[in-house]
Parts: sequence; structure tokens; C-alpha cells
Amino acid sequence: MKNGTCWLDDRGLPIQAHGGMILLHEGTYFWYGENKDAPTTGASVPLMGVSCYSSQDLRSWRHEGIVLSNRPDDPSHPLHPSKVCERPKVLYDPKNRRFVMWFHADSRDYALAMAGCAVADSPTGPFRFLGGQAPNRRDCRDMTLFQDPVSGKAYLVHSGDWNKTLYFSELTDDFLGFTGVCYPAMADQEREAPALWYQEGLYYAVTSGCTGWEPNSALYSVTPQLSNGMKLMDNPCSGPGYRRTFGAQSSYIFEIGGKPHILLDHWKPEDLKHSGYSILPMTIEGLWMEIAWREEFEGV
Ligand code: DGJ
Repeated sequence: MKNGTCWLDDRGLPIQAHGGMILLHEGTYFWYGENKDAPTTGASVPLMGVSCYSSQDLRSWRHEGIVLSNRPDDPSHPLHPSKVCERPKVLYDPKNRRFVMWFHADSRDYALAMAGCAVADSPTGPFRFLGGQAPNRRDCRDMTLFQDPVSGKAYLVHSGDWNKTLYFSELTDDFLGFTGVCYPAMADQEREAPALWYQEGLYYAVTSGCTGWEPNSALYSVTPQLSNGMKLMDNPCSGPGYRRTFGAQSSYIFEIGGKPHILLDHWKPEDLKHSGYSILPMTIEGLWMEIAWREEFEGV
């Protein structure tokens, strides 16, 4: 697949899994993301729901449909087409055999800034919307989910304080609520699009700056513990277009064959449904991280 382009599913249609994530569950990859399959007006599209695709090889993607539906019937519902549902992320809860989704739930003007939660019994849904909330009474804009492999604790990692601070809001063991434990990171750095990774005693965050759909410089940060000490390090990108993340923005870090890879969105602000994707391998050694551009993603 050619990195940076619009990728097609098994029906030959553009994959609608923007701001998404890839979950490996029982040998199958599931790609969740924003369905933006509608005309773009004023740099936004109506809320269409969350799509899911499945794959064995990360190259051919089977369309599994919309797994969290919009609610055109109820204008006050957080999933009404007039609202915003972005960056959906899913964790599997093996104790309750449930898939828990969190996403950025907002009003079209991004003033509401809530976290939405939904749950399903199967990876391909349907996900049932449980509600939206302000995690620990804070705003939630760009976000991701991260399960700490050391403690097993999961976190909603969200830009808060009008994007000034990145917060790690600890989730309860069933992932459905918050414990009240919350760690701030990178105060006043105005980072968004967080993608997290852990390796050999260090936690890494790749983030973007806040320039809407326009690409800017990715930066990575590192800390030995999630509770404090997250330091901005450098731009991890190398190759053509490295100053502006190859024209893309971070979305999620996941493992392929034991090696971290990053999923990027190449937004097309004038035609969001045709936005492209890249998957790039990452080199991480201690305090060093590199994401080198590659024209092709070959899958597994
Ligand atoms: C940048 C964010 O990273 C995206 O998820 C989206 O919210 C756009 N801003 C909207 O302009």
C-alpha cells in the first residue's frame, strides 16, 4: 500500500477509519476509526459513526460496517450528525469479555470537549453508547487509550485545559469509568494527537502541535514513570517532509512482529473522506526514537 494515499477496502471503497487505531485480537487485526463518508463543508463532515475493518495481513481490509452508529433521530444526542466523534480507541477487557471504546465527543465548535464511552460483546460491535463525561471534571479533546503493561492500569490520555496540558486519567479495572487518579504531563506545551508506547522501562508519547487539519512537527517525549517527568525530546521523523510529519498527524502506535509501528492520518481538509494513511516502522532505543519515511507499507 502506498503510504500517504487513500487506502481501499475489500469493496474498493476508501477506508473510513480516520483518527483510528489497530487492535490485534485472537489473530485478527481490527482497525477502528472515524467514518467521514460525507461531503466536507467548512472543513468538517457530519458525524457518521465509527467504522471497523478486519484483516489478517494489514493489507487487505474487510469492511465490518459501522460499529458505533450515529443518531440522526435525536438532535440532542452526542452522536447526532451535527456533533463530533473523533479518535475512537478500543480496549479488550478479558475479565468481562467486552470491548470498551472511548472517543472524543464534542459539539461542532469543539467547545463541549467530553469523553464518550461505548461497549460491545464482539470486536465488530455493535457498540452501545454509555454516555459522555468530562474526565475528572477536565476537558477532553484529542485522546487515546493506553494500557500500561507494567501495572495493567489503563488510561484515557487526553489533551485538556484547552489543549495546554496532556492528562493521563486512570480508568477503573473494567475500563468504563475513572478512578480519580490523574497525572498531568507537558503543561503549557499544547500538544495533541497523542500516541503512546512503552518499552524497556520507558514510556513514550508521540504528539502533534495544534494546527487543525494542517500538518506540523511531531515531537516525542519520554518518561520513566507515567506520574511525572514526561520530557519533550525531539522530532522523531526523518526523510522527505520530516518537518511536518510527512504531511500527516499521529494516531496510534501498535506492534507488528514485535516492532512498534505508527499509524498516521494524512488529512485532506477540503475532502476529509479521502484523507490518506501511512503505517511506518519506528526505531526506539532508550531516549532515541526515529520514524523514517517509507513509500510503501507491506503489511505482515
Ligand atoms: C486536530 C485534531 O488532531 C483532529 O483530531 C481534529 O480535531 C482536528 N484538529 C479538527 O480541526
